[in-house]
Amino acid sequence: MRDKIQFYINRIKSGRLKEMWRQTLWIYSYARRYWGAMVFYTLLGFVGTGVGLLSSWVSKSLVDIITGHQSGAVVGTFAVMIGLNIGTMIVNQISEYVSASISMKVDAEIKADIFEKIMVTDWEALTGYHTGDLLTRWSSDCSNISSGVLSFIPNLLIYLFRFISAFAMVVCQDWTFALFAMMGMPVTVLLSRTLMRRMVNNNQRSAAMGAKLSGFNQETFSNIQTIKAFSLIRLYVERLKQLQKEYIEMRLDFRKMSIWTSLLLSTVGLAVSYSSYGWGIYRVWSGVITYGTMTMFLTLSGTLTGSLSSLASLVPMAIGLTTSAGRLMDIVEMPREDYSRDDEVDQFRAKWRQEGISLQMSHLSFSYRTGTRVFTDASLEAHPHEIIALVGPSGEGKTTMLRLILSLIQPKTGEAYLYGGWENSGEEEGRLVMCPSTRKLFSYVPQGNTMFSGTIAENMRNVKPDATDEEIIDCLKLSCAWEFVEKLPEGIHTMIQERGGGFSEGQAQRLSIARALLRKSPLLLLDEATSALDVQTERKVLKNIMQDDYPRTCIVTTHRPTVLSACNRVYSIRQGRCVVLNEEEIDELVRAF
Ligand SMILES: Nc1ncnc2c1ncn2[C@@H]1O[C@H](COP(=O)(O)OP(=O)(O)OP(=O)(O)O)[C@@H](O)[C@H]1O
Ligand SMILES: [Mg+2]
Repeated sequence: MRDKIQFYINRIKSGRLKEMWRQTLWIYSYARRYWGAMVFYTLLGFVGTGVGLLSSWVSKSLVDIITGHQSGAVVGTFAVMIGLNIGTMIVNQISEYVSASISMKVDAEIKADIFEKIMVTDWEALTGYHTGDLLTRWSSDCSNISSGVLSFIPNLLIYLFRFISAFAMVVCQDWTFALFAMMGMPVTVLLSRTLMRRMVNNNQRSAAMGAKLSGFNQETFSNIQTIKAFSLIRLYVERLKQLQKEYIEMRLDFRKMSIWTSLLLSTVGLAVSYSSYGWGIYRVWSGVITYGTMTMFLTLSGTLTGSLSSLASLVPMAIGLTTSAGRLMDIVEMPREDYSRDDEVDQFRAKWRQEGISLQMSHLSFSYRTGTRVFTDASLEAHPHEIIALVGPSGEGKTTMLRLILSLIQPKTGEAYLYGGWENSGEEEGRLVMCPSTRKLFSYVPQGNTMFSGTIAENMRNVKPDATDEEIIDCLKLSCAWEFVEKLPEGIHTMIQERGGGFSEGQAQRLSIARALLRKSPLLLLDEATSALDVQTERKVLKNIMQDDYPRTCIVTTHRPTVLSACNRVYSIRQGRCVVLNEEEIDELVRAF
């Protein structure tokens, strides 16, 4: 006994129970929204149980009438029994439909909620997870919660009610039967403990394995071209088979355990039934009970064993629920982005619509969570109608600077803010410190292909739903994309495949730029967005952007010095700093290219 107490104290100390309690509270925060549905579902369960018990009572009367122990209309009782059976069927079907429809709605609601929470989670924190892992957590773990959240409490109440009412009925008729019916209880309790432990273990392993498989598939399908090019098809098929083998072994291992458990439980159930049966025959033979009562006892002993094992199965279900809750909490409890200043940003934008917006980054230092130190003392500024270029060796921090500007990551020290027009008064008033809300003021063309599947027009309207065809075409012209879109048989209604498929790299880049221009943001960030274009087209695109009357502040990163002459200022990013290059230094870069 002392050992047991010590065991639980240790568990509490190690925080495992506390963690499970925290996970339960988290699930409750969802469950309480659906209390109405739960009450309804529970009541339906109660009605079903009531009807079932009533029909076992009626069948007892029927047997008694037939065997002459009771006088009564056989036909009438038979009709009532049939009626009750049909009633049970109907109640079961309604209950199934209602619970299925509620589960689906709850599932969709929880998934939408978690989806939104993942979207507003801090970007850098999210990058610590593989997309496959995120997907599995979002789909499987959410489904676990949604199916469990509704059924757990109602089922607990329904099984308890079923057990207690059947038990009371047995005790009222003949308490000796109750002893027989309860014979199986210790075995059930013991088995469920072992099963529970295995279940916790299996739950965690299967979730991790699911995430691994989904990540593998997702990455394989999206890199199919590389896999073919390196002749890796056989290797990848083998890898998949290996993962599947591990998965199947794990599942079968658990299945074997389940088979043994249910074999044992069924044997116990049979033993209980046969002893009840023997005891019943003896009681009928000694004239203590009627045939009808015996039939009823046999039915009820089934109900008792059934509801006991159903109650026992709720324990592993609770464990499964908390495991999934824990996996989702890992994600939704990561730092969130703060969008509380959206209104302020909208007003700021409206105020400076004519003059445009300037950007100031002063003495920034920044390191990634992995420890990579990128900036120590970096400063840069950009103004409306300017194009600023960031140059520098690969891996020095050009993309990181754009992420800082977009507040996808936060500087450790230094100031990053926006102000209206050209004049920096130096005063804090009128400044808008960079935050996730200020992202609304930017258009961003990231490195790599970022078009979605859908038509060109749909892709464009993603960023401006009310854009007219003319507006779209104007932006395609500015980005030099109209040259090839115009020649397509379906023009702006041509389909783009996933990640820009069906178009050349340079064409997809021009489409991405057009999309960014259509958004008409005061600030435009282009990260190597023209790298796949020939020099002439690249210059033309930048010139078009400059000549557009829209008061735009534009920052581009580039490895190609040939476009630098089109820029107002060039910053070289090197050794954690941003240094403005003079004309000689730019000429040198061009010559060295
Ligand atoms: N998500 C990340 N987590 C941790 N470190 C990162 C991350 N992204 C980039 N880094 C590191 O930060 C440094 C700067 O990377 P960044 O992508 O800003 O370089 P870049 O100048 O844009 O290079 P390129 O010209 O090749 O695009 C590199 O050393 C890189 O390894
Ligand atoms: Mg980069």
